[in-house]
Amino acid sequence: MAFIAPSILAADFANLSQQIRLAEIGGADWIHCDIMDGHFVPNITFGPFIVKAARRVTKLPLDVHLMIENPDKYLEDFAEAGATMLTIHQEAVIHLNRTINRIKELGMKAGVALNPSTPVKTLEYVAEFVDLVLIMSVNPGFGGQTFIENSIEKIKEAAELRKDLKAGYHIEVDGGIDAHTITRAHKAGCDVFVAGSSIFKADNISAAVVELKNLVK
Ligand code: DX5
Ligand code: ZN
Repeated sequence: MAFIAPSILAADFANLSQQIRLAEIGGADWIHCDIMDGHFVPNITFGPFIVKAARRVTKLPLDVHLMIENPDKYLEDFAEAGATMLTIHQEAVIHLNRTINRIKELGMKAGVALNPSTPVKTLEYVAEFVDLVLIMSVNPGFGGQTFIENSIEKIKEAAELRKDLKAGYHIEVDGGIDAHTITRAHKAGCDVFVAGSSIFKADNISAAVVELKNLVK
């Protein structure tokens, strides 16, 4: 089963609820929220307040991707805002095992994201506890960047690790996903596809979701 997670980073925030609705009509499975703090990544987006607003306008799972320093400080806030899954960056926390446990204690699914330069093997001792591994296929910080080719290899490694550990996590890819890259990421073993620009910058948002969904059926 494959899931499409439109990233609202590329949406028109003046019409957020309508944009989410259009993605839903196309068959979006999760709504991806990109949280950036201007420290961990060179860009600032939004915080729990917008996640809470999104929670009010959709019943879809909210897939919250924290690109922030010291995420431990904000786990409760995102739980209260209604995040379904909370993904932290491996590079941003010192005690990864502890943070994963805390996210789950708060009733959310726990994900770990890897920057393009971080090897999959850094997750060897936590992979069995996570619900999702997010392979960043661009350097986090901005939408609309080009897919980094060796992400395909990393997706394969994440799938191998899952098999070796008999773990059950989703493998999610984020950055530069469009009609060309999605098929290859899918073949490599990925099952959750984040797409911002290719959905929300398209002329027809719903049709763009339908097209991506059909490619990974
Ligand atoms: C990048 C974000 C992505 C981004 C994807 O830092 O994590 O979710 O919005 O955007 P596109 O699909 O435009 O590459
Ligand atoms: Zn993201």
